[in-house]
Amino acid sequence: MTTSILIAYFSHWGHTKQFAEKIQQLTDGDLFEIKTSRFYPEEHDPCSIQAHREQLNDDRPELIDQVKNMDQYDTVFIGHPIWWYREPMVIRSFWAAYDFQGKNVIPFCTSGDVGIENTEKDTQKYLPTATVKTGLRLGTHAVDSSVPEIKEWLQRDGIKLIKEDK
Ligand SMILES: Cc1cc2nc3c(=O)[nH]c(=O)nc-3n(C[C@H](O)[C@H](O)[C@H](O)COP(=O)(O)O)c2cc1C
Repeated sequence: MTTSILIAYFSHWGHTKQFAEKIQQLTDGDLFEIKTSRFYPEEHDPCSIQAHREQLNDDRPELIDQVKNMDQYDTVFIGHPIWWYREPMVIRSFWAAYDFQGKNVIPFCTSGDVGIENTEKDTQKYLPTATVKTGLRLGTHAVDSSVPEIKEWLQRDGIKLIKEDK
């Protein structure tokens, strides 16, 4: 059986983007960057204040790009940095924008030290009709040194690796 894979990600500083690109290389899935019209400051502290306010207000930033034909994908990886112990609010905008019924959804993230457990719980809560698989969190700068761990995680979730790492 061939599975059709989408790797959707939001990344502010580029580390989660690197993780997403590694998954893409290993699976040959389609890559999609989740973008918003909302401006986020580059520096940690002002960005953090804004992100916290959004979380407290359940404020969902507007998406500016759409996945073309989400129906064709049966497995959707969704990646992000951890912001305030969980997914940035734009991920909730993304969850709300599509029908994930019957799809495998696999979270992934990078963070300073917080794990992916809150994201896994939130994914299940907001996408009750999806099958949420075990996620993987990597440290901010850990993508290059974590290729064996990434491969093992993908295979554990039943993803066939069709390309060797370069
Ligand atoms: C607004 C903001 C909030 C953050 N909150 C957390 C946090 O709660 N826990 C944590 O471990 N790291 C936190 N971080 C660090 C990022 O999760 C981490 O550096 C991540 O790898 C950045 O990914 P990116 O390069 O894809 O944006 C935060 C960073 C920012 C900018």
